[in-house]
Amino acid sequence: MAGASVKVAVRVRPFSARESSRQAKCVIQMRGNTTCITNPKLPKDGTKHFTFDYSYWSHTSEEDPNFASQRRVYQDIGEEMLAHAFEGYNVCILAYGQTGAGKSYTMMGRQEPGQRGIIPQLCEDLFARVAREGSPELSFSVEVSYLEIYCERVRDLLNPKSRGGLRVREHPLLGPYVQDLSRLAVASFADIADLMDSGNKARTVAATNMNETSSRSHAVFSIVFSQRRQDPLSELATEKVSRISLVDLAGSERADASGAKGIRLKEGANINKSLTTLGKVISALAEATSKKKKPEFIPYRDSVLTWLLKENLGGNSRTAMIAALSPGRLQLRGDAEHAAVRGPHEADPLPRGDQRGPERAADPRAAPGGDAAQGAAQRPGKRKKSSQS
Ligand SMILES: Nc1ncnc2c1ncn2[C@@H]1O[C@H](COP(=O)(O)OP(=O)(O)O)[C@@H](O)[C@H]1O
Ligand SMILES: [Mg+2]
Repeated sequence: MAGASVKVAVRVRPFSARESSRQAKCVIQMRGNTTCITNPKLPKDGTKHFTFDYSYWSHTSEEDPNFASQRRVYQDIGEEMLAHAFEGYNVCILAYGQTGAGKSYTMMGRQEPGQRGIIPQLCEDLFARVAREGSPELSFSVEVSYLEIYCERVRDLLNPKSRGGLRVREHPLLGPYVQDLSRLAVASFADIADLMDSGNKARTVAATNMNETSSRSHAVFSIVFSQRRQDPLSELATEKVSRISLVDLAGSERADASGAKGIRLKEGANINKSLTTLGKVISALAEATSKKKKPEFIPYRDSVLTWLLKENLGGNSRTAMIAALSPGRLQLRGDAEHAAVRGPHEADPLPRGDQRGPERAADPRAAPGGDAAQGAAQRPGKRKKSSQS
């Protein structure tokens, strides 16, 4: 595979009922892979243009020829990542953005036809491909775990008894992992869909002023996918293991913006810490990729999130980040966490076509609105043996 290991997309959602009733104005426009943002408070600043690998216009509906549906987002990003997993790479898809911006919708979506997000579509596709390609020589196994990180503590979403506080350890060969985390073997999409449902129900949600059911935790849905090939002549078996981590990050709003106090403020600090660290990790990796050299130091250990995702972000893995944007009023602030989507090329002139790798992000901090849903994944596991292509 040529090209950078990080793809960046942005996606703008429709107005919520509340925004519509207040006649909110959409401050974002998209053309091709370019996102244009106009800050109505600062018309002098003009419109800012940002180019990403993908700019998804999901503000309207199917009738609009420019509309980006759940299917479209999956076909661009999910299919590519699934293909990499079949090649033996570890892959990671992260959804980033403020609470209510559409992270959970993008990752999990809703049950109704056409509304399912990347995670269920990817799982369904995975089993369809396994069914097509399985043979006496080639067998597959799929294991799933689902965890949440809340205030730097890990909780197993597939174990109803888990109250959080699982220990994160490091295996000398396999990297960081969560001790005692359930890892369940699944044989069909129906199995995985059941686990997804029960995990989603177990997620921590807490009310803040920003959003009543905002998700204050990172959710990591992980699939450990093994392909075992038995050579009929030599009888030698080879195994390729890839880990697919699908992550619904906690809301990126600043603690102060949501009137947070006490525990909420602590939550905010922890969330910012992991998002800031994630930004640094991705920047360091992308910089190393663009300069074709080994990264010097990558601060994986600075947050539980990045530590657990180490094998999914660095080395021979493939990462996609989708920044969810609310269409309404912007709070254009220079938060450090935005580095998470900004990537290393901020100094480059904008916009550029055909760029790869994390680009500077539009990072509109969107207005509050909407409700929260859930997210997805990550996990420790076996070692990938990557087959390069
Ligand atoms: N692209 C979209 N199309 C339709 N509805 C969306 C879209 N994105 C988000 N929503 C709706 O907006 C609300 C907030 O989205 P959600 O995914 O829960 O935000 P987040 O997880 O970022 O907090 C939900 O009701 C969700 O169904
Ligand atoms: Mg959510």
